[in-house]
Amino acid sequence: GGVIPFHGAHQAGIATPVQDRLHFAAFDLSTDSPEKVAAMLKAWTAAAVQMTSAQEVGRGATGAALAPPDDTGEAIGLPASRLTLTVGFGPSFFDRLKLPRPAGFEELPRFRGDRLDPARSGGDVCVQACADDPQVAVHAVRNLVRIGFGTASVRWSQLGFGKTSSTTPEAQTPRNLMGFKDGTNNIAATDRKKLDDHVWVGDEGPQWLRGGSYLVARRIRMHIETWDRTSLKEQEDIFGRTKREGAPYGGTREHDPVAVEKLPADSHVRLAHPDSLGGVTILRRGYSFTDGTDGLGRLDAGLFFLAYQRDLNKGFIPIQRALAAKDLLNEYIQHVGSGVYACPGGVASGSYWGEALL
Ligand code: HEM
Repeated sequence: GGVIPFHGAHQAGIATPVQDRLHFAAFDLSTDSPEKVAAMLKAWTAAAVQMTSAQEVGRGATGAALAPPDDTGEAIGLPASRLTLTVGFGPSFFDRLKLPRPAGFEELPRFRGDRLDPARSGGDVCVQACADDPQVAVHAVRNLVRIGFGTASVRWSQLGFGKTSSTTPEAQTPRNLMGFKDGTNNIAATDRKKLDDHVWVGDEGPQWLRGGSYLVARRIRMHIETWDRTSLKEQEDIFGRTKREGAPYGGTREHDPVAVEKLPADSHVRLAHPDSLGGVTILRRGYSFTDGTDGLGRLDAGLFFLAYQRDLNKGFIPIQRALAAKDLLNEYIQHVGSGVYACPGGVASGSYWGEALL
């Protein structure tokens, strides 16, 4: 039921410990006015400060009897559940508001095998809500949607469960829906050097983005039924790690170092490993999803992949190019949604999301 502080040098929800549940929402602006957007972000920030410390929004869920309540009420009595709210701005945000984009910040290139649904992609603004209780995460997004009425509307959203990437290496590594430990070789929240080198934007970025990060979101569908008919040996060869222990080929324990030359040539971990890509490194923070069935009797399930990086061209883009070209995993997955967002640095007490930009 803990509280993760909202204010700080960096936005919470990036390097802070990963919670169990996700509600991610992408919004489209319905205005071209930076003043209107600033007013919304100010109101969002005030609500975020309250919700992340388990307070009700505004004057609460039971304020004046003759007005609709400021807070929708379904989180009354629930603890903060480590709620974090993280905001980012898509390339279209800057165009719509006629603000300068950070240098080189644009929509992601098309990757081989992509089958992106525009209705699950893009968006001017994104909010990543993570909490240990799904009701707390959903309550948070719902109240921001309500506050944003008239300025922004939801374009698409995604619920996630069972974090697939840990930033706490001492804890047990969670497993994704393919049954493999996911997040073994991730950046630890305590690794300041790696975070500074690979996650936080530095002096190269505009002032409002320093201490912030670029976020890539990908809705990756898994062909679960085909996967479940694949032999254990083939499953392990696809990742280059064992299923139960998560040990890299050539090693015996999960956290043994990866020697890329000992992994199958086109295995996922070999292709994605920094040693195969000149040091390219990202912070992964994804979640599993299962959105019912697809009408053909198959589960609509997979990985909602979230990754933070200092520079997209030294992060997601080169990794995904390498994976799209030949990853053995491609037979079992398909990227069906996508978004890219510039997430500003941390919010100081008394300030609000995006104040330095707007
Ligand atoms: C590692 C699964 C998509 C980047 C791993 C590992 C698993 C895994 C099981 C090994 C454990 C670990 O170190 O975390 C998956 C699944 C995916 C997927 C099931 C899709 C459904 C992606 C994508 C990217 C990516 C789209 C980036 C473009 C990485 C990286 C590593 C990794 C960087 C660590 C490699 C290392 O340093 O050893 N993934 N992954 N993965 N994956 Fe993925």
